[in-house]
Amino acid sequence: CGIVGYTGPRRAVPILLGGLAKLEYRGYDSAGIAVLEDGVIKVHKQAGKLAGLAEKLQGYNGQARTGIGHTRWATHGRPSDTNAHPHIDCSGRFAVVHNGIIENYLELREWLGSQGHQFTSETDTEVLPHLVEHFYRGDLVEAVCRVVEHIRGSYAMVVLSADEPEKLVAVRQDSPLVVGLGQGENFLASDIPALLAHTRRTYILDDGEMAVLTPEEVRIFNRSGEPVEKRVFEVKWEAAQAEKNGFAHFMLKEIHEQPRALRDTLKGRLAGDDSAVVLKELEIDDQKLRSLRKIFITACGTAYHAGLVGKYVIEQLARVPVEVDIASEFRYRQPLIDEDTLVIVISQSGETADTLAALREARRLGAPVLAVTNVVDSSIAREADHVLYTWAGPEIAVASTKAYTTQLVAMYLIALHLAAVRGTITLEERRAIIKELKQLDSRAELILGNGHLIKDLARIYGRAEDVFFIGRGLDHAVALEGSLKLKEISYIHAEAYAAGELKHGTLALIEKGVPVVALATQKNLFEKTLSNIKEVKARDATVIALAMEGQKELEKVADHVLYIPPTNPVLAPVLAVIPLQLLAYQMAVVRGCDVDQPRNLAKSVTVE
Ligand code: G6P
Repeated sequence: CGIVGYTGPRRAVPILLGGLAKLEYRGYDSAGIAVLEDGVIKVHKQAGKLAGLAEKLQGYNGQARTGIGHTRWATHGRPSDTNAHPHIDCSGRFAVVHNGIIENYLELREWLGSQGHQFTSETDTEVLPHLVEHFYRGDLVEAVCRVVEHIRGSYAMVVLSADEPEKLVAVRQDSPLVVGLGQGENFLASDIPALLAHTRRTYILDDGEMAVLTPEEVRIFNRSGEPVEKRVFEVKWEAAQAEKNGFAHFMLKEIHEQPRALRDTLKGRLAGDDSAVVLKELEIDDQKLRSLRKIFITACGTAYHAGLVGKYVIEQLARVPVEVDIASEFRYRQPLIDEDTLVIVISQSGETADTLAALREARRLGAPVLAVTNVVDSSIAREADHVLYTWAGPEIAVASTKAYTTQLVAMYLIALHLAAVRGTITLEERRAIIKELKQLDSRAELILGNGHLIKDLARIYGRAEDVFFIGRGLDHAVALEGSLKLKEISYIHAEAYAAGELKHGTLALIEKGVPVVALATQKNLFEKTLSNIKEVKARDATVIALAMEGQKELEKVADHVLYIPPTNPVLAPVLAVIPLQLLAYQMAVVRGCDVDQPRNLAKSVTVE
């Protein structure tokens, strides 16, 4: 979910709606605002996208100067008008927006019920305004402190009170919250893009911190109620980076930004003579890197798929065993970790609750944690021992593209560095890979230049009901990502299989005309994959093959062949995924889907 707050001299409603529009990537199944008008809290909220609410409020000319807003991704209670935030107490004097989950809400609800409180929604959040009302004795800050003592779970919340106009009280625990510092006005938001139209000066709240905003000042307190001196975090990137710039969708724009993102992620990380990777961020001494017995990579969604590529390349180049785990599984399975294990967490947003929890578990078990993330000063960046930033720039579309390819680059950098320290590849081999790594951007550009071929394919197969993706080795990891992209945004049922595994069961699903996307970029596995392609062709599947230029034999077997420019097979995933991203995108467009905001999903999931 995304939350915003404003207090100052300007009309609050447009500011709140503008801020929420930048946070819709965090959830978009309902939206709402609460503003203080003539001493009374007015709530406007409804199910559906923010545009619906904005339309409803179009002619609204209320003069409220303080308010809070919310865009929701449902956890407790279906998306509906009543379940939408803000929620208010019985007296209507307190309104709350919340992101996270109040784990003990049922107990609290029962207890509050016995005290005469009545609830209207199915949400966990609704206990919050009732609790504030219960504890309020004329001091909102004190009441919120009491509330915090009684709740368990994760939250970023903002409270507005009719009794203390022009004031917002916000607290954070495991869900992000940023204060925007203005002149004579102040802001709150779940993420920086919501603030950029107004200010670049921010405070990024830490867990347990409370912010008290009035138009004139912002005070921050820690868990024990002591004032905290916060460092002002100046946002360097441009608001324009979070705009579509003429592309029909953010996803398409972000796919096209990949050459630049790849370059930026490599910048300053290669020695001048291309002989080595320079990772100043990784302050683990070489001795420690040599004695590593195992690496764990943990992440969710697309970032997990980047981890799968990481496993192949690190094992292949640096010869260290790597285990990859989905963060929500890793955390609860008592992973076998000690100080000689390095844990790498990958997260575009740096805020994913499952990944953050996995990071904390790894640190608790004594392992050093290296975070690969795209967001400076995100929770994951701050809590990890070491951070390697991917410089993809803000990624807005729910389906991740440029973040994924830059995560792959991060995996190569880590693998090459480890390989150098551990002496597992020769200087010549290293040079050869680095040389190729530097050319990925221009090769990605070539692929993007051929986008029309994929548009044609999407026209032919856009109505398919099932699509299979197959590949071996690194191609299997990319197949998983290609299939996820398609599922996420086109709602086509898609599955990815290790090409050699298909015959052990899944082949039963292949029938006439079913599209099979077959990846065959890995030279040493080419013949084997070709046999698997023939197996599906023998069952009348339609094959779209993806290979490096020069693999002409494919044209005799497959119905269509997409080529990527030749590169070192280890690096092929960065290029191979691009046609798959475009294919998912174009198929979703053909089907009239909401590409940037697919149903049921959110970009940043800050609940477990
Ligand atoms: C959400 C998004 C996915 C993303 C995953 C992990 O589920 O919808 O696209 O891959 O979270 O996000 P992260 O920010 O941790 O990379």
